[in-house]
Amino acid sequence: MLRKLTEKRVRDALGTVMHPIAGVDMVAANAVEHVGIKDGAVTVILKADPKAKDIMASAAKACEEAVAKLSGVKEVRTVLTAHRDGPAEPAPPKGGFAMKPPAPPPPEKLPGVRNIIAVASGKGGVGKSTTSVNLACALSQQGLNVGILDCDIYGPSVPRMLGGADKPDFTPDDRIKPVIRHGIKTISMGHLVPEERATIWRGPMVIGAVQQLLKGVTWDIDGTLDVLVVDLPPGTGDAQLTLVQTAQVNGAVLVSTPQDIALIDATKAYDMFAQIDIPVLGMIENMSQFVCPHCQGTTDIFGHGGAVAAAKAKGIEVLGEIPLDPAIMQQAEAGLPIVLAAPDSDVSARYAAIAKSVASELQS
Ligand SMILES: Nc1ncnc2c1ncn2[C@@H]1O[C@H](COP(=O)(O)OP(=O)(O)OP(=O)(O)O)[C@@H](O)[C@H]1O
Ligand SMILES: [Mg+2]
Repeated sequence: MLRKLTEKRVRDALGTVMHPIAGVDMVAANAVEHVGIKDGAVTVILKADPKAKDIMASAAKACEEAVAKLSGVKEVRTVLTAHRDGPAEPAPPKGGFAMKPPAPPPPEKLPGVRNIIAVASGKGGVGKSTTSVNLACALSQQGLNVGILDCDIYGPSVPRMLGGADKPDFTPDDRIKPVIRHGIKTISMGHLVPEERATIWRGPMVIGAVQQLLKGVTWDIDGTLDVLVVDLPPGTGDAQLTLVQTAQVNGAVLVSTPQDIALIDATKAYDMFAQIDIPVLGMIENMSQFVCPHCQGTTDIFGHGGAVAAAKAKGIEVLGEIPLDPAIMQQAEAGLPIVLAAPDSDVSARYAAIAKSVASELQS
């Protein structure tokens, strides 16, 4: 017999979804404004701060998935309503007495790591991983002890860009020793599981994996890291939230291509960091001009400077412009980033200047 679809069952399902900012579930965070049920069609109205609407949109999707699993549900719709108040007061538990759930633990300073810099973008394929490895190498060339964490659980690419996915060693107490490539300490899902297995991971597994990659690794194998560069997957999803909730992130670097759409997406990433008080150090315009490998002439394929102009208009500092240069791609594919392969090139000088700006923001 089918169980009757009731508001309680819907609310119980919503109670299995974490509120991305409050750190407790959606019901406890008092984010469920209304639940309507009509002929198997469920409408859930969720309160969301307009500044956090991208983060809340992914929580709304998780709510839809949780409710859709209930028997008797034919259709689920969520609506986000503007909500500008401070942090939501948790609803009292059903038992009667009002009790605040414990606050989520604040992000910790990662042992053995002085600074964490996240490399992010709203859109895929704009060059975050390429930028992360070259930035890490350029910071290392400036004498810093550098690590790079590949936080892209579904599509790890850092091992390939640094020359191979060797299996890491483990300490006697089962902590992962980072793999050392070109002097950089690195770890990635790609070092731990075969690539095809990574793609089937679901949300909660991603959260666990990111926590493990951050906290289960002996980053200070070779002395305290001055900086851990974190290569994020695109968007504002589980990996990003887990990173910022687990470890203190000192700053974010955004990567954008000159096309408008990529910039709009990058400003979404900017809003996410602004919302959680992580300083955005600036934006890098990647693939800004095409450099012809034959004549070294430059062509503005996407309309050069679009990201730079719009970033400035939004008050985001521009850290540098990296051209679309086939050598950057070839070197990444070959596992030897261009900064190491051609340290005297114009492109390497650009990465070095960006690394200098980033290094000037680091804590010693
Ligand atoms: N400045 C550049 N010039 C030429 N090729 C580049 C440049 N930047 C990145 N690429 C190439 O573009 C492709 C995408 O880059 P990359 O993997 O770094 O992007 P991503 O933002 O990390 O992607 P994803 O969102 O999938 O993680 C790669 O083949 C890379 O070699
Ligand atoms: Mg990437």
